[in-house]
Amino acid sequence: MNPSIRKPLIAGNWKMYKTIGETEEFFTQLEPLVNGVNHCEMVIAPPFTALRRASEVAAPLGVGISAQDLYWETEGAWTGEVSAKMICDAGCRYSIIGHSERRQFFSESDRSVNRKIKAAHGAGLEAIVCVGELLAEREAGQTEKVLEKQLTGGLAALTEPDFSRIIIAYEPVWAIGTGRTATPEIAQEAHRFIRSRLGQLISPGAAERVRVLYGGSVKPDNIAGLMAQPDIDGALVGGASLQAKSFAAIVNFQGR
Ligand code: 13P
Repeated sequence: MNPSIRKPLIAGNWKMYKTIGETEEFFTQLEPLVNGVNHCEMVIAPPFTALRRASEVAAPLGVGISAQDLYWETEGAWTGEVSAKMICDAGCRYSIIGHSERRQFFSESDRSVNRKIKAAHGAGLEAIVCVGELLAEREAGQTEKVLEKQLTGGLAALTEPDFSRIIIAYEPVWAIGTGRTATPEIAQEAHRFIRSRLGQLISPGAAERVRVLYGGSVKPDNIAGLMAQPDIDGALVGGASLQAKSFAAIVNFQGR
């Protein structure tokens, strides 16, 4: 992390967990634990059904709300889909795009990621764009090739100003929900590669300002080591974001 250039960001991705009532309970418990935090930005991504209520109860805590996905069309006959404008209307400032679970189980492609980023920006949202390799790809020495393809395709035809509303989340698929975190050194190596590729895609100066989060089995006891790396600017936390106490412990990675 380099807080003089990039403000750290700790985001929780709740995936398909929590009702509206459970969302309210989480923020009630979180409030005293993050009171006065200003060393980092905090974001929570609840399921669609809880977005509106979450944005109301999270605002006084200074926690931003994110959707977990969106559809690129503005409106129309797209049963089951939710547009960027609707997400903004529910009080969100961010949307996660291209999570590996969307890529693996719902046929998300780099092309659809690209369309979704443009739709998010069109509605005024910041995009948290996920990239990361499968275990087989890492073992075959393909990590950089995979990241290269995801970044080039997903971020195609974006302009330099667009990058002020892009956050990258590096989530190696083998580390998600497995308890097997990338070591800080392995994560740093991938983050450095991502930033250097962003430098080529936009400009080295703009790449220095883009935040690159790490995701994959982030817990209170491994966050400090990850945050000590120069190119790790925060975390996208799954399981450990579901309890206020563990999410707050990650937010307070420097100790309180
Ligand atoms: P876990 O923290 O549960 O491994 O999930 C990571 C993730 O997918 C966040 O988007």
